[in-house]
Amino acid sequence: MQVLEKEILIKEPGKAVKKFFLETYGCQMNFSDSEIVASILKKEGYETTSEESKADIILMNTCAIRDNVEQKTRQRLTEFRSLKKENPSLVIGVLGCMAERLKTKLLEEENLVDIVVGPDAYRSIPSLIEEVEGGQKAINVLLSREETYADINPVRLSENGVSAFISITRGCDNMCTFCVVPFTRGRERSRDPLTIVKEAQGLFDNGYREVTLLGQNVDSYLWYGGGLKKDFDKAGEEQKSNAVSFAKLLEMVANVSPLLRVRFSTSNPQDMTDEVLHTMQRHENICRYIHLPMQSGSSRVLKQMNRGYDRERYLDRINAIRSIIPGCGLSTDIISGFCTETEEEHKETLSLMDEVRFDYAYMFKYSERPGTLAAKKLTDDVTEEDKKRRLQEIVDLHRKHAHESNLKNIGNVYEVLVEGTSKKSTEDLYGRTTYNKVIVFPKEHYKAGDYVNVKVNSCTSGTLIGQIVK
Ligand code: SAH
Ligand code: F3S
Repeated sequence: MQVLEKEILIKEPGKAVKKFFLETYGCQMNFSDSEIVASILKKEGYETTSEESKADIILMNTCAIRDNVEQKTRQRLTEFRSLKKENPSLVIGVLGCMAERLKTKLLEEENLVDIVVGPDAYRSIPSLIEEVEGGQKAINVLLSREETYADINPVRLSENGVSAFISITRGCDNMCTFCVVPFTRGRERSRDPLTIVKEAQGLFDNGYREVTLLGQNVDSYLWYGGGLKKDFDKAGEEQKSNAVSFAKLLEMVANVSPLLRVRFSTSNPQDMTDEVLHTMQRHENICRYIHLPMQSGSSRVLKQMNRGYDRERYLDRINAIRSIIPGCGLSTDIISGFCTETEEEHKETLSLMDEVRFDYAYMFKYSERPGTLAAKKLTDDVTEEDKKRRLQEIVDLHRKHAHESNLKNIGNVYEVLVEGTSKKSTEDLYGRTTYNKVIVFPKEHYKAGDYVNVKVNSCTSGTLIGQIVK
C-alpha cells in the first residue's frame, strides 16, 4: 500500500476548493489508474491532500486479486468511520477492481461507502460526487468496449520525476481459471499507439528517463483503429494491414530517444514472440528485463489454470530470451497450492525454478476468488497448511537464487539510471541497471535522472551496493 499525493493548485476564485485523498492498492496498473483519476478530478478543480483528516473526499483505488488484499482494504475503510462521524459531509468512494467485483454490495455491506466506481467509469467520478452531495449514493460499474483513457494526460503521482507508467491495454481476455481480472477489468482493448508515443515524448521532455508500458498481457497488444481485441478478425483489410503489434509499438516508443529507457509488464508465455525479443535486441534503451509469470512448473496444473502453455513452452520462451538477449534479467509470478496440486506437482514448480533461476519472484498462496472459473468448477482442496508450507519452500528457494544472482554481479560495472536518494542514508543514491537490479552507492554530485556507471562491490539478497566509476 502506498499513499499517492501531489498538490494540484487550480483554484477558481470565489469557490472553495475541495480536497481529495487518494489511496492505491495492488498492481502497477492501479497506480497508473490513480494518475488518471487524479487528472480527471484536477480538471474539475479539485486538489489533492496527503492528510485524510483534511479531505472532503476519500477515494480508495482497490484490488481484488487475492482475499487478503480485499481484507486490508476493508480494515482501512473502518478507519475512515470516525472521520465520517466528525464530518458527515465527507464523501467516501471505492474505485477499481473491488468496486467492480462487489458493486452495490459494497454500498450495503460497508454502509459508510458513498460512491462505487469500476475501472472503466472513472470519467464519471465528478458527476457521481455531485450526486452524493445531492444526498444520494452513487454507482457506476459499467465496463466498456472502448474506454482506454487515451486522451487523458495523467497527473504524475510518483515522486521521483524519473520513471513513469503508461497503460497500453486495458482488460484481459485470457480467462486464467484462478483470476478475477477478466471479470473486474472487462474485455481486452488496446490504446492508440500515437497517444502512447505522445505521452512518452511528453514525459521525456519533462525530464523523465524511463517509461514502463503496462498491460495484463502486453504481448497481446494490437491496435487496428479501436475496438476489442477479440473483434480483430471482423476488421476490414486496410485496418488489418495497418495494425500495430506490441513489437512495433515497442520500437515506436524506443525511438522517442536513446536516453529514454523503456520497460514493459506483463509478458505472457503464451503470446510472447521472438519478434519482441529481436526488437529489444536492436534497441539498447529497451531494458534487458522480462517479467514472465510461470504460475506453476507442472503442465497438468497449468492446464487446470487455463494458462495456454505448458512447462515445455515456458522453457522454450526462457531459452529464446537467453539466446536472443544474453544476460536478460528475469522475474516471475508463482502460485502455491492451486486446486488439485499434488506434492509431486509442487516439486515440479521447484525444479522449474531451479532450471530458470529467477532474479526476482512474486510468490502467492492460492486464494479462491468468487465468480472465477476455478471457484465454479474446481475444488480448492489443498489444505491451508500445505499451501503455506509449499509457499515457504518456493520463497526459500527463490531467495537462494536471487542471492546467487546478485553475487554474480560483484566486480562488474553497470550503467545505472539514478532514481533518487536512498531510504537508508541521504548520502547515498539508488538506481537500477538495465537488468532491473537496484544498486545503492555514494551520491557524489549526481542526482535523480542522471546516468552513471557503478561498480558493484557487495550485495544483500535484495540489493547491490557499489560506487560510481568514471
Ligand atoms: N496478467 C498477469 C498478472 C495478473 S495478476 C499475468 O499474466 O500473469 C498478478 C499475479 O497475481 C498473477 O500472475 C498470479 O500469480 C497472482 N494471482 C492472480 N490471481 C490469484 C489468486 N486467485 N490467488 C493467488 N494468486 C493469484
Ligand atoms: Fe489474470 Fe491470466 Fe489475465 S492471470 S490478468 S487472466 S493473463
